[in-house]
Amino acid sequence: VKVCHNIIEFRPWRRSIEGALLVPFVPTMGALHDGHASLVRQARQIAGAQGKVAASIFVNPTQFRPGEDFNKYPRTLEADLKILEAAGCDGVFVPSAQEMYPPHLAKTRETRDGSGGVSIDPGDMTNVLEGAIRPGHFRGVCTVVAKLLNITEPTHLLLGQKDFQQQAILRRMCADLNMPVKVVTCTTVREPDGLAMSSRNRYLSAEERSRATALYEALTWVKGQYDGGVRRPLELEAGMRSFIEARGLTLQYAIIVEPESLCRWQDIGAGEIAGDAVALIAAKLGATRLIDNMVLTSGSPKQNP
Ligand code: PAF
Repeated sequence: VKVCHNIIEFRPWRRSIEGALLVPFVPTMGALHDGHASLVRQARQIAGAQGKVAASIFVNPTQFRPGEDFNKYPRTLEADLKILEAAGCDGVFVPSAQEMYPPHLAKTRETRDGSGGVSIDPGDMTNVLEGAIRPGHFRGVCTVVAKLLNITEPTHLLLGQKDFQQQAILRRMCADLNMPVKVVTCTTVREPDGLAMSSRNRYLSAEERSRATALYEALTWVKGQYDGGVRRPLELEAGMRSFIEARGLTLQYAIIVEPESLCRWQDIGAGEIAGDAVALIAAKLGATRLIDNMVLTSGSPKQNP
């Protein structure tokens, strides 16, 4: 795998693969696990024999709020490169913060939330869920992903379903800003007991790890209820809450939304779910935040035109 730390190194590599019809791209913050490897393997499949798979590793400071885990976020570059290589990645962009936010931007980028400089306004979909708890987070995500897309010039952007709101907002960004890239959302990869794979799982103590399955238990319960015909969002949300609380996690939200708009079914459905739906949960276990979700309807997310 070709490793480039600077844009001036990456662009010639990108030009050298101009003949590749398909160039799928997997953006990451490193600390890679099998969920990331599965994204790269799917990118490899999309690329086919003629295509090239690109990835990036960058712990983006502008999407972390002060007091969040930016400093302690695991950095495991050597292991990450091995995982990327084994999964079929051809080129990886590993910039420094200086490279992505160079000093000439610093005058207008005095805060870590990226305010001051030119950034992407992610719109109303950030007022809920993760966006409500982590103000500024999706502005940071959209801005860095737009920059990475401009640097890597991919044909496909592969994102994990685990960060459901992130994939919904980035999908919307690419559509609304007419970015010439196809967004592909890939199924969450889980541990054998159902816990969604996440770089943050390594923060959990053994005792916390044993209780972390509460999110998956709540989501499988809600899916069972939905499949059994229950359509009242308040009843379903209350049931999910009780699973989380029974295991002693601190619940942040457990709600059911329409997957494209992220509007809560309780607010739009006159007390009934009447279309596509996804259940989302966020909870804290000690100092660690966990998120997970489950699509309740079989309809997969729509592709951008
Ligand atoms: O999901 C992530 O790892 C990050 O939010 C992303 C998409 C790489 C942007 O920094």
